[in-house]
Amino acid sequence: MRLESLRLVDFKNYESAMLRFQGSIHCLLGKNGSGKTNLLEAIYYLCFTRGPRGGSDVSCIRNGKAQFVIEGRFRKEDKPHEVVCTFSSGEKKLVSEDGKIYSKFSDHIGKYPLVLVAPNDIELIWDGPELRRRYVDTLISQTDQEYLRQLILYQLVLRQRNGLLKMSQERPSIDHDLLHTYNTQLISAGTYIFSARVKLVRRIIPVLTAQYSFLVEGRDEQVGILYTSDLATLDFGSELSSRFERDRILGRTSVGIHRDDFNFQLMNQSLKEWGSQGQQKSFLIALKLAEFRLLEERNRFKPLLLLDDIFDKLDDDRIHRLMDLISAGSFGQIFITDARPERSAEMLRRIRVKSQNFQVEDGKIQDRDQNTIQVI
Ligand SMILES: Nc1ncnc2c1ncn2[C@@H]1O[C@H](COP(=O)(O)OP(=O)(O)OP(=O)(O)O)[C@@H](O)[C@H]1O
Ligand SMILES: [Mg+2]
Repeated sequence: MRLESLRLVDFKNYESAMLRFQGSIHCLLGKNGSGKTNLLEAIYYLCFTRGPRGGSDVSCIRNGKAQFVIEGRFRKEDKPHEVVCTFSSGEKKLVSEDGKIYSKFSDHIGKYPLVLVAPNDIELIWDGPELRRRYVDTLISQTDQEYLRQLILYQLVLRQRNGLLKMSQERPSIDHDLLHTYNTQLISAGTYIFSARVKLVRRIIPVLTAQYSFLVEGRDEQVGILYTSDLATLDFGSELSSRFERDRILGRTSVGIHRDDFNFQLMNQSLKEWGSQGQQKSFLIALKLAEFRLLEERNRFKPLLLLDDIFDKLDDDRIHRLMDLISAGSFGQIFITDARPERSAEMLRRIRVKSQNFQVEDGKIQDRDQNTIQVI
């Protein structure tokens, strides 16, 4: 799969921009704050119908404007596709594929698989379980559309059930039929989600292990993911019933897959507490590479790979290993941002790979193709 062109109107700091992509490695070069990450975010929008940081759509409209447009032309299995994402403040976001507007965004997720490696990935280790759940959810949703539907349903019913519990704090009576319906829906969706998460963890661990040992050059460091869930040890249905009085006092549901966590492990210890900074970074890159492999295996084509600021955040050893993979043709189309053009030029020259270079300056883009790094 390839992204052949990207057009933006009033997206973040871009008034209007048009990029035509040639070759398979595209470097977005420019000073801090010039708009490199914004371009990656626009590509992410086309694939996920939202930005990567979970920020609002409104904040993506260029200051003082009323609407943004992102348009991407893809080529997938040799067929052209056009994806357009439009958002006007106060209105519903519209996403279309080949002129057909989606009624449910969930139908779009997974069609254009993408893996993003970003500086704030470290938050996956350091932050709370919600971020890890979101990461896993995004990954599974790309390969299993039913998962996303069940997840949306679960979250909706959970909100409704919590609302009912809160309401019942003020009123002595509760609609038991409604509560029963909510419980049944939570059990069904929760069980689906739980088993999909179990499967994902089982599938990803061997791939993660292989990628990690490649990055650390075979050092004997065992990595893993420990999935913890109420549903692994408890009967969800009976817990929902038996905890009813407690949940009513709390005003929320105290059991379910919304409390799951994925503990990243190094040598059977917590990576967060035990791992060095270097080991944590290696784990994250290995995780992203494992994600890439799973998506590739599932789709039988390579996802887009976005590498935001990796030269800045990774040390030389890991960059060289990553570069080895690039030069071995392990990836398809790659978008790399860098604030120091000479550094990425040097990295790519070392591995004798040709790239297309764009100069980004204050929301304006210049194709620096004449400066394209040549194969030596
Ligand atoms: N809605 C918006 N309207 C106008 N400008 C915006 C909007 N949202 C963000 N920006 C601007 O976009 C710029 C940040 O762009 P971006 O994060 O892409 O920079 P970058 O080139 O990746 O920088 P760095 O090298 O520091 O990572 C900031 O100057 C910010 O003010
Ligand atoms: Mg950036």
